[in-house]
Amino acid sequence: MSLLSIFDAADYLSELLHRAEELKKGAAPRRADGKTLGLLFEKASTRTRVSFEVAMTHLGGHSIYLNPQDTQIGRGETVADTAMTLSRYLDAVAIRAFKHSSLMEFAAHSTIPVINALTDREHPVQALSDLLTIKEKKGGFDVKLAYVGDGNNVCNSLIGGAALVGMEMAVATPKGYEPDPEVVRKAKAISDRIEVMEDPHAAVSGAEIIYTDVWISMGQEEEKTKRIRDFRGYQVNRELVERSDDALIMHCLPAKRGLEITEDVLDSPASIVFDQAENRLHMEKALLERLL
Ligand code: CP
Ligand code: NVA
Repeated sequence: MSLLSIFDAADYLSELLHRAEELKKGAAPRRADGKTLGLLFEKASTRTRVSFEVAMTHLGGHSIYLNPQDTQIGRGETVADTAMTLSRYLDAVAIRAFKHSSLMEFAAHSTIPVINALTDREHPVQALSDLLTIKEKKGGFDVKLAYVGDGNNVCNSLIGGAALVGMEMAVATPKGYEPDPEVVRKAKAISDRIEVMEDPHAAVSGAEIIYTDVWISMGQEEEKTKRIRDFRGYQVNRELVERSDDALIMHCLPAKRGLEITEDVLDSPASIVFDQAENRLHMEKALLERLL
């Protein structure tokens, strides 16, 4: 069983949330002695890498961090050959790739569980952990979440997650930066509480949570000037937050202070970004227990 998209967790999402809560409260994790998780990362990471490595330590297993520069992938070994080889050694693999298609290709040739640790399309583990954070802070999902900014990987998985738990979600993006239409289609087939719009003021109206992410994701650095121009008006700042229903502030991190979010909002008492970061660990332990 793999987690390539947030929709893959549909059947066991509530169980996962429950188990992550237990683990956070100190329940003993199911052991994964002698098991090894590979972390095959084409891009930088602080939270995902460290939380997965620590999760494996807590489970009594081991992890190996692999990047293209230090493996034969960087010298052109194919994704398929890499997948077939690593499947012979590892018990599961978490992959952070530029292209979602690389992840899919790896999974197609792999015989072990594959976890999407972020691609250009989705960041499902982030969304799972964020649902844990929302449940913890709000006691459930009878809330409205507004996502303001880029309709990127984080936004896509969050849309799927919101649909799966029946949470109301309003997404506001500039024209041309909408979330993946296929993700939105799937989400809307599950839930009628997902809305995509352009107006950030309309999105945050009545929202109890405001979520944002960077305007320039990893791999988009050359679009920086254009993106900063296009996202003007989509900054999560005091003025926007005041239009909400005393919203809590979420961000997957890393944040670009002063771009998508102002420093005062990110550091305000309403900000729960470090609880989000912590919950990555608890959720990943629950996920690894299941997939290993
Ligand atoms: N939120 C998140 O995935 O952070 P990293 O890029 O540091 O892993
Ligand atoms: N959207 C960001 C998320 C980083 C965790 C990126 O892809 O760079």
